[in-house]
Amino acid sequence: MVFRKTNCTFATLGKQRKQRKNNINEMNTNRICRLFNIRYPVISGGMVWCSGWKLASAVSNAGGLGLIGAGSMHPEVLAEHITKCRAATDHPFGVNVPLLYPEIEKIMEIIVSSGVHIVFTSAGNPALWTSFLRDRGVTEAHVVSNTKFARKAAEAGVDAIVAEGFEAGGHNGREETTTMVLIPHVRQVVDVPLIAAGGIGSGQAMLAAMALGAEGVQIGSLFALAEESSAHRSFKELALRAGEGDTMVMMKKTVPVRLLKNPFFEEIRAAEARGANADQLKAMLGKGRAKRGMFEGDMEGGELEIGQVSATINAIQPAAEVMHRIISQYETALYAMNEKPYFTSN
Ligand SMILES: Cc1cc2nc3c(=O)[nH]c(=O)nc-3n(C[C@H](O)[C@H](O)[C@H](O)COP(=O)(O)O)c2cc1C
Repeated sequence: MVFRKTNCTFATLGKQRKQRKNNINEMNTNRICRLFNIRYPVISGGMVWCSGWKLASAVSNAGGLGLIGAGSMHPEVLAEHITKCRAATDHPFGVNVPLLYPEIEKIMEIIVSSGVHIVFTSAGNPALWTSFLRDRGVTEAHVVSNTKFARKAAEAGVDAIVAEGFEAGGHNGREETTTMVLIPHVRQVVDVPLIAAGGIGSGQAMLAAMALGAEGVQIGSLFALAEESSAHRSFKELALRAGEGDTMVMMKKTVPVRLLKNPFFEEIRAAEARGANADQLKAMLGKGRAKRGMFEGDMEGGELEIGQVSATINAIQPAAEVMHRIISQYETALYAMNEKPYFTSN
């Protein structure tokens, strides 16, 4: 499938479908595909303890854009992951850099010197790094959770914006804006290529995001539970069993993060109910809590980050199968929407 901006009418649908198949190698007009030189506008988000070279290269090989998550890597570990990722794929891949990262200068130097051309920044002010990256030929996308930061990112000159709704796994915005509301709102205020994130676990959800104004999607939870994710098997299995309401955003007094319910979550909940302040919550989190949970498999005392969409995920699959399913669901849903309208305008 080639992602194109189309002007569908029912009469032309069949013809367009045929034409799409014939034109499979035709130039892609989707701005996200063009920006990153990828086949499908599907990005696997940078995720601490989950998105190493294996996951990133598998997603890139399947036609999406795989990101290595630098947030849980020392600089030399990141360098190793970049080398391995390059050996495992001829396709473009990128690195996610949370901007609050303590050794950020070293991380950026490694990215640039190892010839990575795509960086997704998050959790900080992109203006600090935009010209550094642009001057070195790096394409930058920045993750935001509200329109204020979307405007700032656009003013800073980023090449694309990821707008991430409150459903998402990982760190969230304080405004609690859901993807359904955030995407059209961000679309109203900025014109840069827009990627939707948060709650996307199927091709149908991807289609909905595109209908709201996104031009691509960033998926986290679904790929965190894929075979190539470096997360511990126990974490993947527990997250697969998660149902509706089994994740909640906690730690709003410090850095809000969506957590899977486990004994550590209950400790945090109890502390918050007692009125614990930011410093007390930070002390409870300590160091290495996310590694302990997601990477080392401590399901009792570890911090477990996953999105609401985990309630709909039922299997650990190879990333290529996940990609294939999303794209075929997207295509099927797109045609179904056109062929079976639920109402007419006359
Ligand atoms: C386990 C986990 C770790 C994450 N770590 C990061 C991170 O290090 N940097 C970042 O920008 N986003 C991080 N995220 C957010 C994802 O990149 C992505 O935007 C988000 O998961 C999308 O929402 P979804 O989980 O509903 O698909 C993380 C998400 C998860 C589930």
